[in-house]
Amino acid sequence: MNPVVDYLRISTIDRCNFRCVYCMPEEADLDYVLTPEMMTREEIATLVREVFSPLGFSRFRLTGGEPLLRPDIVEIVADIAALPTTRDLAITTNAFFLEKKAAALYEAGLRRINISLDSLDPATFDRIINNRGRSRWQQTWNGILEAHRLGFDPLKINVVVIPGVNEAEVLDLAELTIARNWHVRFIEFMPIGNADLFGDRGWVPSEELRDRIRAKWGLEASQVTGAGPADIFRIPGAQGTLGFISQMSECFCDRCNRVRLSANGWLRPCLLNETGQIDLKTRLRAGDSLGELRRRVGELLALKPEINFKQRESGTSGMAYSQTMSQIGG
Ligand code: GTP
Ligand code: 5AD
Ligand code: SF4
Repeated sequence: MNPVVDYLRISTIDRCNFRCVYCMPEEADLDYVLTPEMMTREEIATLVREVFSPLGFSRFRLTGGEPLLRPDIVEIVADIAALPTTRDLAITTNAFFLEKKAAALYEAGLRRINISLDSLDPATFDRIINNRGRSRWQQTWNGILEAHRLGFDPLKINVVVIPGVNEAEVLDLAELTIARNWHVRFIEFMPIGNADLFGDRGWVPSEELRDRIRAKWGLEASQVTGAGPADIFRIPGAQGTLGFISQMSECFCDRCNRVRLSANGWLRPCLLNETGQIDLKTRLRAGDSLGELRRRVGELLALKPEINFKQRESGTSGMAYSQTMSQIGG
């Protein structure tokens, strides 16, 4: 049976203040969405309230680029959090501006955050985010600590495991979950955005990471609040959990429960396949009725199982494409 699609990932802005090597090609000349083309706060609220919520969507995630670059991010959170039909609202951020913004986000109703942090070593971190100036590690770490202090729960840390770059830190990152109620998730690197980095070894299978962790501490199945594709485990006795997002080794396309809205308002049925996508913002601006928009989105949802990338059949050959993860929203 096809899973219910009730999770919308909304990219609020396609720009990012980092240039992670795996996310953006080094000399990328990205075609950013111009401000007038971006969905306004009101348009996002209208689409969520009048189109997606009535179609049964109850889980929302705000992404970027970097969503905290969006000046009205707190208001966008407040709009979605206030809807009685919203069961889950979360954000994915690189945490660089979190120390300043976490309190306002909490007050607006946000309770859970996923943070990208690929290294505990400032030099490796700066290398991954392609930072050439003053190190950005400490401010990022302070953002994570502030979110923890304010009580965001669950607090998740996303680690893209890159062979030969941060692979050796897996045990140190996993150890973060022992004394703190943090949830560290290891993501298999996908050949998207900067496929050049995708060398011979490409990606590290989650099972290999689990073997390493199991050998040191043991590992048991566990659970944590979430709507995404991670498989959850725990080091026995640890406060937090370990998640593994294994799109390269496992393929979870057939349990896909989400669609994506881009910063300029295109509804995309699958991260890796844009077939059938709908330009919702332009239709809204052109005066299409909300009923008409609901009808079109409903039609796309009905087609989604056919459109889903189905990595199991396609392998990874069709995965490298022109848009970066920051443009699509991860
Ligand atoms: P939770 O609700 O906390 O489980 O969040 P999530 O895992 O859905 O969101 P997050 O933004 O933290 O996503 C983590 C990573 O999972 C993304 O950056 C992608 O690498 C991967 N991911 C999420 N959704 C998909 C998907 O539909 N397809 C593929 N291939 N990867 C995905
Ligand atoms: N492979 C896997 N995950 C990626 N992300 C970005 N690019 C890739 C990739 N090539 C993830 C990062 C970040 C989120 C926005 O997207 O982990 O958490
Ligand atoms: Fe890095 Fe995320 Fe920015 Fe991409 S969008 S460059 S993964 S911080």
